[in-house]
Amino acid sequence: MIHDFIYDIPVRIYFGRDQLKNLGAELKRYGTRVLMTYGGGSIKKIGLYDRVVKEIRDAGLELFELSGIEPNPRIDSVRKGAQLCKENHIDVLLAVGGGSTIDATKIMAAGACVDHDPWDFLDIQKYAPIEKALPIISILTLSATGSEMDTAAVISNPETKDKLGRLDPAIRPKVSFLDPTNTFTVSAYQTACGAADIMSHIIEVYFNFDEEFYMLDCVMEGLMKTIIRYAPIAMREPDNYEARANLMWASSWAINGFILGGKRKAWSCHPMEHELSAIYDITHGLGLAILTPRWMEYCLDETRMSKYVQFGTNVFGIDPTLAPMEIARKSIEKLSDFLFNTLQLKRTFPEVGIDRTHFAVMARKAVNGGTLPGFKPLQQADVENIFEMCMK
Ligand code: NZQ
Ligand code: ZN
Repeated sequence: MIHDFIYDIPVRIYFGRDQLKNLGAELKRYGTRVLMTYGGGSIKKIGLYDRVVKEIRDAGLELFELSGIEPNPRIDSVRKGAQLCKENHIDVLLAVGGGSTIDATKIMAAGACVDHDPWDFLDIQKYAPIEKALPIISILTLSATGSEMDTAAVISNPETKDKLGRLDPAIRPKVSFLDPTNTFTVSAYQTACGAADIMSHIIEVYFNFDEEFYMLDCVMEGLMKTIIRYAPIAMREPDNYEARANLMWASSWAINGFILGGKRKAWSCHPMEHELSAIYDITHGLGLAILTPRWMEYCLDETRMSKYVQFGTNVFGIDPTLAPMEIARKSIEKLSDFLFNTLQLKRTFPEVGIDRTHFAVMARKAVNGGTLPGFKPLQQADVENIFEMCMK
């Protein structure tokens, strides 16, 4: 059965090399006082900072800045940003960076409109409503999370050792600038992590049995083939425009809501990964790369095998005349080969400094004390088993 769904992705995208000339006009639609947010300085190194500041000044807008947003962005940066917005009567936020900067900016934009602590939006006990948020424009510099086009933000709280996400249409960017040349300087490692993240966003939806939606499965297979084709090229040739453009547009469409098509099952690898980054501060895509093939192996049985067969034959071109279980197993091997050999990502927990110390608590938090109702429902013991599989 295909569930009813609403298609509503109201983000204006400026894609390409020569689009920033539209930035001033877009910002002006929302006001005159702009808070620009960014991370640890990569935008200065690539010359983007100067270009953005010039566009803002030329448009006669007033510029405020917040820098230093961390990878795996922290609630303290969000608090600072929300406060800055209130003190300076900010009209519009401009996030320039990767998913971390955009995510932090989303919760700042909501935090600027309330009196309470922005963490209350993430805290699962409180889950404060997001009734409104200041408008956000983003300039993306790393293809991975899709935050430039989606309703999600994921924030870390080092005090509580939580990394929690929030979804709300109010925090979706109004406009995003996607210039592939802004990603030419992304390292091979971050390119690989981004590719693993995009693959996971698709796999979390593709491996889902609520209903068969052939049209969307074909789109997802096309997106996955795009990542498999272009991520290694971008790693080898960082300034290959075609590769960067394909990765960039695929990252947005992997998670902007389109491929969901009403599917309702929860994701599995993301909740597990967020517990890893919460405690070990590892790169999100790296954690997903380690977890995903193990999770696929854990879920594989006769009842779920057909999805693996579809994945293996359509995405990796495995011989369809082989026995279905053999194709299913080979599909996991092919994915592992892509993640660990082609993308050169680390394969096991010990290689990234994760041991068994926090398995029980991470697994309990990942299932939120109950069951993760994904492709295969997972309880705490299942998640601990999957973590164990990542040890070698
Ligand atoms: O901080 P700066 O100096 O900008 O450097 C960053 C950072 O060190 C660097 N970088 C970004 N653009 C660059 C660049 N370096 C050179 N050239 C450029 N053009 O890359 C590093 C990583 O940046 P970050 O923003 O952390 O990476 P990413 O985009 O992968 O974002 C990861 C965060 O997004 C969350 C993750 O959990 C993680 O916290 N996610 C957000 C989602 C969403 N909003 O929908 C979904 C995802 O599943 C994910 O959970
Ligand atoms: Zn992700």
